[in-house]
Amino acid sequence: MTTTRTQVGIIGAGPAGLLLSHILHLHGIDSVIVENRSRAAIEQTIRAGVLEQGTIDLLRELDVAGRIATVGAYHHGFDLRWRGATHRVDMQALTGRSIAVYPQHEVLIDLIARRLATGADIRFEVSDTQIHDFDSTSPAISFTDATGAARRIACDFIAGCDGSWGVGRKTLPDAKHFLRVYPFAWFGILCHAPVSNDAILYARSQAGFALISTRTDNVQRMYFQCDPAENPDDWSDERIWTQLQACVAGPDGYRLHEGPVFQKSVIPLRSFVCEPMQHGRLFLAGDAAHLVPPTGAKGLNLAANDVVLLARGIESFYHKNDRAKLDSYTPDALRRIWRAQHFSWWMTSMLHNAPEHNEFDARRSEAELDFVTTDRNAETALASVYAGAPLGE
Ligand code: PHB
Repeated sequence: MTTTRTQVGIIGAGPAGLLLSHILHLHGIDSVIVENRSRAAIEQTIRAGVLEQGTIDLLRELDVAGRIATVGAYHHGFDLRWRGATHRVDMQALTGRSIAVYPQHEVLIDLIARRLATGADIRFEVSDTQIHDFDSTSPAISFTDATGAARRIACDFIAGCDGSWGVGRKTLPDAKHFLRVYPFAWFGILCHAPVSNDAILYARSQAGFALISTRTDNVQRMYFQCDPAENPDDWSDERIWTQLQACVAGPDGYRLHEGPVFQKSVIPLRSFVCEPMQHGRLFLAGDAAHLVPPTGAKGLNLAANDVVLLARGIESFYHKNDRAKLDSYTPDALRRIWRAQHFSWWMTSMLHNAPEHNEFDARRSEAELDFVTTDRNAETALASVYAGAPLGE
């Protein structure tokens, strides 16, 4: 078995793993990333992506924000729609901050290119990844590489950035898991059609929740609330458009631009936190440690915040011989994680029809939407959390 030595062994070439590896590199700290998918699979899996102001700032600092304005778009506000009327939450005016819609796989394309250009060691298409000796000062990662050869990476620290089903969380002992599964899911589509709305639109209606987002001038991303057991094959384009139009219909005559649907899937909604996020020399970051329902658009941003804190801890360990920031990584990261859990749960509850809800609950949610769009303090609070606080605070 061939053994490689590095300072930080990173499992997973998603946003958390790649960001961590690049920030460490800028601080002169070496890492190796192992990833079980191929580079092409990572770069082609279409994922959502709303970047908070702080995440945009981080990508700019890392010099990987160059394509956001052309491939994605900056948004100064977002829309809330209920009872058939739309309200624009002008984040820029209320908070001085805005967001970008830039799908996660585009972020990954940029980060992989930048990492490889700086000579990074990324092993794609590995299998049988295992974590060893994380309770000691010389942990290791073993795996089978793309050619079938057994490999071992000896390191000082291991970062489990390998998502919800990864080996990182499975290996972490004695953690408590907090989970909420929602009784509804999202039916997500990609279609060829012109832009329907110039901002992300979240709609609440008797027909259920819908979200109107965009990818390019002629590719649109939309979602509507559905039963988690729904089979996408049971939905023709016509049925999809009837449902989406019903979710946004109103006396103002608003209609979506329709077009051929070329991708459809059912996305479960979950809230999840793993505590603690570390043990010995093993640290979790991103989806490996927590999941939020996509309503608050926080997933990628939470991963970025974990990574900023973890990189800071690793950096002060090497450069200042100080373990304090690593020791407090879990409580430091959990603060924002739980606030994002609350926000995502709140947005989800305010905008969806839960099966157990009756007309009282519907009226109550409408009153909540009325409050957050007419009380300036409440609207500013909503806009502020949506645009996000600076990372690493
Ligand atoms: C998306 O563009 O896919 C998207 C936008 C906002 C969300 C979730 C997903 O809250």
